[in-house]
Amino acid sequence: MSTTESTTSAGTGNGPVPKPVRKAVIPAAGLGTRFLPFSKAVPKEMLAVVDRPVIQYVIEEAVDAGIEDILIITSRYKKSIEDHFDRLLDLEDQLEAKGKMAEAEQIRGLSELAQIHFVRQGEALGLGHAIGTARNHVGDEPFVVLLGDDIMHPRAGVLKGMIDAYNHHRAAVVALMEVPPEDISAYGCAAVKPMGDRLVEVTGLVEKPAPEDAPSNLAIMGRYLFTPDIFDEIAHTEPGVGGEIQITDAMARLLTHQRMLGYTFSEGRFDTGKKIDYLRAVVEMALERDDLGVEFREILADIVAREGIGV
Ligand code: G1P
Repeated sequence: MSTTESTTSAGTGNGPVPKPVRKAVIPAAGLGTRFLPFSKAVPKEMLAVVDRPVIQYVIEEAVDAGIEDILIITSRYKKSIEDHFDRLLDLEDQLEAKGKMAEAEQIRGLSELAQIHFVRQGEALGLGHAIGTARNHVGDEPFVVLLGDDIMHPRAGVLKGMIDAYNHHRAAVVALMEVPPEDISAYGCAAVKPMGDRLVEVTGLVEKPAPEDAPSNLAIMGRYLFTPDIFDEIAHTEPGVGGEIQITDAMARLLTHQRMLGYTFSEGRFDTGKKIDYLRAVVEMALERDDLGVEFREILADIVAREGIGV
């Protein structure tokens, strides 16, 4: 998968074979104000879901979808993210000396998940601006963007589905999920035309519309697939909602001259930047663990019985 020539199955047109999607960009520079006081000294992307930080789930999702090269956009408060994916030889040695080989291997494995690179967004100028800082690293390849605090459950298969859609249609793809109409003002919103299956044709985009102005209740959900064409659009995007350079606005510009698809899905997304969704992520992931699930289920059942929930 490392050379262009190996992707002969991709594409439906007669043009040159498109480059494979092997790079990901993970914006993780936000302040995390919704998770204060925790996020004062620890980045929200480092919140533990059972025993792994949120951003590790995001990276594992990318690797599972075939991504080999990951650029994480951080800020000066986020050094612990870099440390998490770096070698820690002292700890590896100590674990090995104690015969804890599996633990040592697990720690080492974190630095071998993919080629992981970091760039800092010097100023918090918005998600669009953050993605724009990836331009040099991305070069002339298509790439995916995964928001660093959104976990997607593997069963949802969102990123893989988006990459398949790109390989087939050669157009930018954005993940979309229906939300209650009153919630749409927290998201980017897409107007669409049906295409069949999970795919829709995006016909309009607006960032955080008031419910009465929203063209639909389809919300953008933290996964994007772009060609490098997005970078020129970002460079020409003026600050929008909140005075920030919004990726949704850059996408709306792209839409005026390029096709864009939506990949719709209905469950399996956890916005861990929101306390209630974070709690749901912890419970669901813990229940699925071989080493914890049975005991944790009993504990939950006890709590439910004691609190009289759902009976
Ligand atoms: C960002 C995007 C928005 C998207 C959302 C998904 O908003 O700007 O379009 O719907 O992520 O989580 P934020 O949550 O950073 O305000």
